[in-house]
Amino acid sequence: MQIKRFSDQAADALLLLLREEDTENFSKFSGLDDRLRDFVVELVSRKDFKGKKGSLVKLPLFDAKFKNIYLVGLGEGKKCDINLIRDSLAWGLRSAGRDRNKSVVVTLGHLKDFKELAMSLGEASGLCGYVFDKYKTKDEHHEPFALSEIYSDVYDEKEISIGEKLAAAQIFSRELVNEPGCVIWPSVLAQKAEEVAKQYNLACEVWDEYKLKAERMGGVLAVGSGSKNPPRFIHLTYKPEKADKKIAFVGKGITFDSGGLDIKPSEYMLTMKGDKTGACNVLAIMKGVAELGLNIEVHGFMTVAENMPSGSAYRPDDIVKARNGKTIEINNTDAEGRMVLADALCVASEIKPDAIIDMATLTGACMVALGKWRAGLFVNDEGLAEKVLNSSARRGELLWRLPLDDDHIAESLKSPYADLVNSGNRYGGAIFAAMFLKEFVGKDIAWAHIDIAGPDFKDKEYGVYSKGASGFGVRMCLDYLLNS
Ligand code: BES
Ligand code: MN
Ligand code: ZN
Repeated sequence: MQIKRFSDQAADALLLLLREEDTENFSKFSGLDDRLRDFVVELVSRKDFKGKKGSLVKLPLFDAKFKNIYLVGLGEGKKCDINLIRDSLAWGLRSAGRDRNKSVVVTLGHLKDFKELAMSLGEASGLCGYVFDKYKTKDEHHEPFALSEIYSDVYDEKEISIGEKLAAAQIFSRELVNEPGCVIWPSVLAQKAEEVAKQYNLACEVWDEYKLKAERMGGVLAVGSGSKNPPRFIHLTYKPEKADKKIAFVGKGITFDSGGLDIKPSEYMLTMKGDKTGACNVLAIMKGVAELGLNIEVHGFMTVAENMPSGSAYRPDDIVKARNGKTIEINNTDAEGRMVLADALCVASEIKPDAIIDMATLTGACMVALGKWRAGLFVNDEGLAEKVLNSSARRGELLWRLPLDDDHIAESLKSPYADLVNSGNRYGGAIFAAMFLKEFVGKDIAWAHIDIAGPDFKDKEYGVYSKGASGFGVRMCLDYLLNS
């Protein structure tokens, strides 16, 4: 997609985002000459467009500078924020692109008090056209997404380019996550990581099942043991010459989560190709970091296995030793994410980073607590908490902080036979999992755990999101790096 500065060009379509109060005063919109403005005012009054949130009106024009006008309502001005603007932009651009408009003028001047408008346009332009339809046979009526040029009156080349890179990284994650388990298994994800490393000159180390054993990665090995596709552990490094910080990302990469011997009922198993989102996000972040050329040393750890039931699968009652020597009694093989993350957090801690951020589709309980639009944040350091929450708010990937220090839940982590059990009772499941992970984070390391179960996968298209994998977390983490 090309984004250019608007200077009175004609285009296939005009896109206007309007707050309720904007519909009373059309004079402030650039791009509309008097005749066109009168025309829009008339059309709007006939169509009764009041700028209500969630309303979109398309109007064909004849004998005018634009063939079509798209109006998207932003609702009440005082409730409008940059995230609503970004989603509305994506919605408007997507509609225009699907209607075969190749070029769109977007006028944003009336919204210029909102911060990072240009960056949000970059993000929306990169995210609006994505759908996962490569396996669908296209018939002769198939119209590919046509939009290729955007002209905007709010224009900042640098900001737009950052927005585009954030979006491209997120799409990269979506593309991987949307691939089913018959296409992506652990060694395939390792190959993808090697490709990214080669393209961007990153260091990449892959541990296969033998190396995992030698490195005492008991959690990853236990989870991977039921599958004919053995597990992998991947470490990517981006290291500029004089970096002033070292940040580590850790991602859960279960290429398919059947539950293992504690097998999931079918309605819960569906979409479990999405259980690799954390790891795919980490790979996408490494790509984004390289594209942005940040001056931070960044490490990406992907801990990848397929959770399957079989004669060689790990069992309930098994006792597994993680990399730091702690023993874990398995009471549910479906609580596998924390097992692979345990080893990964140990390795990440060993390089002594300034902060570790892990992302994982970890618990259904988190989704029950927060719904499908917010991820759970668990963090042991107030400075890190503030930065991550700010990035989350700026990029519209919403988080809600949950506790990491519940004494009663700490009691339930104890096992009569080992140091820990891997799952607790029904209540507080997301907190239990986070407190379990805490046992594997090095002393005094600032650490944030983001439970993305829920927002990782969308039932339907909305704003910047398409149906299926969302790559939720990628833009927020890159924003965190841009601002740290
Ligand atoms: N991958 C799932 C969590 C999940 C559920 C992610 C729904 C996305 C959507 C995880 O491995 C899991 O199975 N968790 C169990 C834990 C339980 C056995 C303690 C859960 O949440 O039920
Ligand atoms: Mn599971
Ligand atoms: Zn899982």
